[in-house]
Amino acid sequence: MKSIADIQAMKKAGEKIAILTAYDASMTCHLDAAGIDAILVGDSLGMVVQGHDSTLPVTMEDMIYHSRIVARAREEALLITDLPYHTYADPDVARENARRLIEEGQTDMVKLEGAGSILESIRTIIEDGIPVCGHLGLLPQSIEELGGYRVQGREQAAADKMVEDARALESIGVAILVVECIPAELGKRISESVTIPVIGIGAGVDCDGQVLVLYDMLGLTPGKRPRFSKDFLTELPAGKGVTEAVRAYVEAVKSGEFPAAEHSFS
Ligand code: KIV
Repeated sequence: MKSIADIQAMKKAGEKIAILTAYDASMTCHLDAAGIDAILVGDSLGMVVQGHDSTLPVTMEDMIYHSRIVARAREEALLITDLPYHTYADPDVARENARRLIEEGQTDMVKLEGAGSILESIRTIIEDGIPVCGHLGLLPQSIEELGGYRVQGREQAAADKMVEDARALESIGVAILVVECIPAELGKRISESVTIPVIGIGAGVDCDGQVLVLYDMLGLTPGKRPRFSKDFLTELPAGKGVTEAVRAYVEAVKSGEFPAAEHSFS
């Protein structure tokens, strides 16, 4: 089974890291069979599984349920699970909820959105021995404050602040960092500014790895696909299925073919 140290070693070795979300056992088996490096049980499940229009209604019970069923099926990939909205502002509550994801959700590490006001919560979780994945850029749990799903860090001051936040997260022991919907140039700058792996989603090809929402990259999400995603299933020859689509994604990430300029922001 892949460890956090294995994922960190990939950055040092210059090997790109391929991550996808999963929320159930069957998809987890496809991801593992295709050689995915890590699986994120993302609170995006609130939208793609539960049919909400944001991640805000997702509860701890939802995350524990999906994390546990993914953990049961997973054989190889590292497992990361999101702490949902309003579950980690207070450090003691954050530690308790992170413990629940590890013990009841059987995950390897927890992911939290932001820096600044939640640094104390992150520090408390890490001091408790629980590994943390950070998340900067577009923060879906702060969508109301951000005023919609739009590219973050385009202004110089905001870009500089994001680099500062990435360094602050690394300095308190965050082990992996996700950056979402930022200019490709900023994705590169953040990846070069920290030694921990930086995983982009809509953050350009120069991040240390990529993550996508599984249903987007299989063309299952109803409506318009986000610009930063790509449908890897419909591009396959007839007769090929989910495992081959995920394998194509893994290969495209590793070779640097994905994301192309058309999936990136300036
Ligand atoms: O919840 C999720 O799927 C995520 C990804 C968009 C990174 O956080």
